Amino acid sequence: MKNYKDLISRNRIPRHVAIIMDGNGRWAKKKSLPRAEGHKRGAEVIEPLMDSAIELGIKAVSLYAFSTENWLRPQTEIFALWRLLEYFFKTRLEKIKGRGIKIRHSGSLDKLPSGTREIIKNAVEETKNNKKAVLNFCLNYGGRQEIVHAVNSWLEKRKPGEPITASKIEKNLYTSGLPGVDLLIRTSGESRISNFLIWQIAYTELVFLDVLWPDFGPSHLYRCIYEYQNRERRYGGI
Ligand code: IPE
Ligand code: IPE
Ligand code: MG
Repeated sequence: MKNYKDLISRNRIPRHVAIIMDGNGRWAKKKSLPRAEGHKRGAEVIEPLMDSAIELGIKAVSLYAFSTENWLRPQTEIFALWRLLEYFFKTRLEKIKGRGIKIRHSGSLDKLPSGTREIIKNAVEETKNNKKAVLNFCLNYGGRQEIVHAVNSWLEKRKPGEPITASKIEKNLYTSGLPGVDLLIRTSGESRISNFLIWQIAYTELVFLDVLWPDFGPSHLYRCIYEYQNRERRYGGI
């Protein structure tokens, strides 16, 4: 593979990169391992990814970790995912904190087991003053649910007769305050959005990679950014 890192221009780094981390199950299957092993290896990819993102000057990374549709999976897989998440934060939080990363959560914590919920709340609280970059964990997240949630939050504050606007929806999204999503990456070769950030990606550049998530490394991130920098963003203009 070409050394894309050297080809990247430091002047046009995406501010916010969103990633659909897909392909853990297929990675495990290929190696005749249980699916949970794929998720475990998938979690290990996050740290080197954040290190290279920070080095490049990316300000926010949103990771799709569990969708509102993933409840359709077998209970055992879902439990394994919560345990993995707890383990991730228990073992990595200090490092994350030390690196200046602010953790955010997008989605609803309501249906999560209380232990997982507390660990996430704690990670958000412990890192709230960090300024270097944001790691936005999208967990029990669905794009349609987010828009409904945003409208309901706005309705609670609505003055009589006041109309809804795009900017009012925007301000009530989980991602409020984060830079716009410049680049969305999906691994595993699937070319769909699967209910991820559907409001935010109206003009986002999309890159679909034929790499299973546990195999994703900094070199793939560089390749995606190179691809992004070679796109012309027109936003409807000419
Ligand atoms: C993505 O990998 C991780 C989650 C959805 C939690 P998958 O588990 O969807 O892996 P595949 O798509 O079955 O290979
Ligand atoms: C999307 O992957 C959700 C996450 C990566 C968390 P899925 O594997 O759930 O998506 P589909 O079912 O292939 O669309
Ligand atoms: Mg999948």
